[in-house]
Amino acid sequence: MATDGLVRLHTLRRGVPGSLPLVLLHGFPLDHRMWLDVTDLLAGDRTVIAPDLPGFGASPTGPDVAASLGADPAPSLDVMGDGVVAALRAAGITRAVVAGLSMGGYVAMSIVERHPEIVAGLALIDTKSTADDDAARHKRVEIAETVVAQMRVDAVFGMRTSVLGATNRIARPDLVERIEHWIRDQGPHAVAWAQRAMAARPDRTAVLAGYDGPSVVVVGDEDELSPVPAAEHMAAALDGAELVVIAGAGHMTSNESPEPLATALAALLRRAEERPAA
Ligand code: MLT
Repeated sequence: MATDGLVRLHTLRRGVPGSLPLVLLHGFPLDHRMWLDVTDLLAGDRTVIAPDLPGFGASPTGPDVAASLGADPAPSLDVMGDGVVAALRAAGITRAVVAGLSMGGYVAMSIVERHPEIVAGLALIDTKSTADDDAARHKRVEIAETVVAQMRVDAVFGMRTSVLGATNRIARPDLVERIEHWIRDQGPHAVAWAQRAMAARPDRTAVLAGYDGPSVVVVGDEDELSPVPAAEHMAAALDGAELVVIAGAGHMTSNESPEPLATALAALLRRAEERPAA
């Protein structure tokens, strides 16, 4: 990949040009397709931008994006966040509401810390601001080593059911199948790089405490990976955040309950638009 400072991420772009863009950052180990349900609900009167994060979908790899940015190639969510911001700037976007689910939320928090000027509003969905403990870090490194040794993503394949809430993992076999398909499409090197990047992420609760724009925290009440107390912790750190708990959804509110999530995002966009420019 050319090291010309330009980052080109494969991106779903839909909606109405000219409106304040909503940037949707996907979870692990997925790509922009997890946002299709929410995009269908919002793109009628909004600009929705959903990139494939570095290494995922059809985007260049993390090390390639790091090279384009002249950054350290070590796995880092900051490379993902810097890459997203560079790609937005290349598309002429200087302000956006940034929303991320789980790993996408970690990337959104990196953007808040490193590029606050671009963030017109913040949505943190089924995610957490705390760092991993040693056991979780160790598990991620083990998975990273396994997927590369096997050159298959089977070590993360169990996620296809565990990302859903207890209700939907029984009630929604169609959704289990879709998620299975999305996971199978990701490459082992991307999965390993992202696991190492997530293992290295810092606690960003203090970053949230320093953020003063509009925000919403959304969580499924059956989320077992980033449970309700993690959402309450972020909402308490953020000044004036709305907390939306979606009943009957797990970690994938984007697909288990896209309507209430889209409603929360539309409300955030309105708050961001109504806020006087700094
Ligand atoms: C995700 O859905 O992105 C993952 O659960 C994030 C993580 O492994 O911490």
